[in-house]
Amino acid sequence: YRNLKIALLGAGNVGAQVAQLLDEHGDELASRVGAGLELIGIAVRDVDADRTANIDRSLLTTDAESLILSADIVIELMGGIEPARTYILQALHSGADVVTGNKALLALHGPELFEAAEQVGAQLYYEAAAGGAIPIIRPLRDSLAGDRVKRILGIVNGTTNYILDRMDVNGDTLDEALALATDLGYAESDPTADIGGFDAAQKAAILARLAFHSAVPVESVYREGITGVTAEQVEQARRSGYVVKLLAICERVTDPVTGAEGISARVHPALVSRLHPLAAVHGAKNAVFVEAEAAGDLMFYGAGAGGLETASAVLGDLVSAARRHVAGGPGVAESFTAHLPILGIGKVHTRYQITLEVA
Ligand code: NDP
Ligand code: HSE
Repeated sequence: YRNLKIALLGAGNVGAQVAQLLDEHGDELASRVGAGLELIGIAVRDVDADRTANIDRSLLTTDAESLILSADIVIELMGGIEPARTYILQALHSGADVVTGNKALLALHGPELFEAAEQVGAQLYYEAAAGGAIPIIRPLRDSLAGDRVKRILGIVNGTTNYILDRMDVNGDTLDEALALATDLGYAESDPTADIGGFDAAQKAAILARLAFHSAVPVESVYREGITGVTAEQVEQARRSGYVVKLLAICERVTDPVTGAEGISARVHPALVSRLHPLAAVHGAKNAVFVEAEAAGDLMFYGAGAGGLETASAVLGDLVSAARRHVAGGPGVAESFTAHLPILGIGKVHTRYQITLEVA
């Protein structure tokens, strides 16, 4: 049973939760993978900083480069463009697979990073880069690869949804609600990325690329954030039976003049009827509707931000990467290692009656 060496870059909202979950469930994940998952170090800016999460401080280092060179799998959760881009390229060139949640980097330098991975036969995993805990990357890339996606529409930024929800339900100002979202670990280190709509535009570019199998530069996404949304607009929307939501919409469109088919991607605040399912997306939750020609309408819903929730997506990618290492190829997608007993079969039990409460 061999040990895979895991390097973690970043111990912030998400990274600290990844380290903690690996510590708690590492053995169970190892049995799913067929190899030990050894966290060999965690790169941070300041090893002496106060940290609320329960992580092994002896793993902290400021020497990210040495850590990367010793790793089989590198998890990048630092955020930002540099040095994240350089570190990911170093990791790929050294033969490591990389897991990242860095949508800003992917939206700007995705082609360069994917090409580098392909050249060396490594993989770049990024399920956490859109929709937090929601599995949306793999469904678009793999499950729907045989279909034709017509439109993706939804809420893809947890911070702005949390803020608009607080403005609507609690009467908070944008600044008050943003301070809470930051405390809860939803906002980017520079929250302008959230409230300015940049983060949602980056996610729209990533999702549209997968859905339409085409390059979608982030600059081509029309972007308007929520900084212009006032308390009066939120109140007026409520009185008229609407709620203000920041939406991302990516769709196939036809040029009215040439008749050529193309893509339109945009992010902006919109009035959503209170009867629409998106109106029921509260707090930092996200929801993405995918309309495909054969599959019809699909809906993906869940925690769009938050350290622990996002760590779930990161660890899913880690398991995929580790399985690939063990198999020396795409890896085994299914394994049955927990040996849990089957309960209740053949018995008549009352759990057939379920009362669903409306929250
Ligand atoms: P944080 O700002 O909370 O944490 C960043 C971490 O990276 C810190 O531990 C910091 O070190 C470390 N770091 C930053 N720069 C460097 C550097 N130059 N060298 C070494 N370490 C560095 O970010 P989050 O955890 O919130 O987000 C991480 C990534 O995940 C981002 O790309 C973000 O967009 C993405 N993401 C975040 C989600 C969320 O809900 N928060 C959800 C989905 C994706 P130190 O602690 O010493 O300051
Ligand atoms: N700041 C991001 C958000 C984190 O609020 O959606 C998740 O990508």
